[in-house]
Amino acid sequence: MMKKTLLFKVDPEDPPLEKIRVAADIIRKGGLVAFPTETVYGLGADALNSDAVLSVFRVKKRPLDNPPIVHVGSMEMVHRLAETVSARAELLMRQFWPGPLTLIFFRSEIVPSATVAGLDTIALRMPDHKVALSLIGESNCPIAAPSANLAGKPSPTTAQHVLDDFQGRIDAVLDAGPTNIGVESTVLDLTVSPPEILRPGGTLFESLKDVLGEVEVNPAAVAERPTTLAKARSPGMKHRHYAPKAELVVVEGDLPAVTNLTRELIKSYRKAGMAVGILATDQTASEYKTGLVKSMGSRDDLRTIAKNLFALLRQFDAEDVDVIVAEGVPPQGLGLAIMNRLRKASGYRIVKAYED
Ligand code: TXA
Ligand code: MG
Repeated sequence: MMKKTLLFKVDPEDPPLEKIRVAADIIRKGGLVAFPTETVYGLGADALNSDAVLSVFRVKKRPLDNPPIVHVGSMEMVHRLAETVSARAELLMRQFWPGPLTLIFFRSEIVPSATVAGLDTIALRMPDHKVALSLIGESNCPIAAPSANLAGKPSPTTAQHVLDDFQGRIDAVLDAGPTNIGVESTVLDLTVSPPEILRPGGTLFESLKDVLGEVEVNPAAVAERPTTLAKARSPGMKHRHYAPKAELVVVEGDLPAVTNLTRELIKSYRKAGMAVGILATDQTASEYKTGLVKSMGSRDDLRTIAKNLFALLRQFDAEDVDVIVAEGVPPQGLGLAIMNRLRKASGYRIVKAYED
């Protein structure tokens, strides 16, 4: 069923209360509002309204067993939604909130089962964005919000990305321009000891380690199943995440081995008649003379690379390339989140470049 999607342009630093109130009214009545956070845009619904949350799943075509993050605006909301709040959790919230850190707690009785996909835990975060915080405050309820993209697609970093997926299917979008961080929050499970990173993101592993002393990274979050060069040459993976329509291959290693192997792959795809996109960096972009080359940013500036990543994947789709060859970056700092997204987007089609 199609509906009219309202678009509200708002100043990220000083969001106008009258527009936020219209959006908050929609949330309170069980509607869906997409809004900016510091990471990516979220698709929000009242977290305490099962029907509203279920419509988020439906619109996103998201599997019902994958719960959204619940966004809070105050510590009081945390205490209502979490069963217990440990001293360790208090420390992390003081240090990293508002910000790109999602914490997993055991949940309280008031949380509807749909909101947590039947689990006894809940994912909470306080976003560092005035529009998001103002929307939560005016709605006067916690807001369940997965990233505002169709399941499996790259997350949205602009309101236009949201409209590309959901125009006519959601009630409103608050447009505050491009998001700042560009990859999603870090998901940290506090129900296990030591705490475990389930998804690397905007809050660095290194920063969490500094504060916690001990923190693990779930093996699935850093999984790599490198493929052979022969297989990389004939793409055909299905069931991906963060994925553009085109096949994606990640080339990992040091320069110049990465550029050499990337050139080799471009050549073989072109020979096979494919339109090739290349996700390069400022240091390497001029090395590629054929194909559609886009730079994510400088290798010395992972913040810019993170910020550009999802938008560039969406651009390649708009330009109808058949295959994208993406250069990897070292998996330290924000590089851990960047590589997690790139590897997932590739369906783990990863090739390692070595000096010869
Ligand atoms: O930056 C972000 O986190 C964005 C913005 C909108 O806040 N949101 C976002 O939500 O990325 P979503 O739904 O796309 O990702 C939520 C992640 C998923 O990996 C989900 O499996 C995990 O959080 N998650 C949610 N509830 C959980 C729980 N109870 N236990 C473990 N993981 C959970
Ligand atoms: Mg998502």
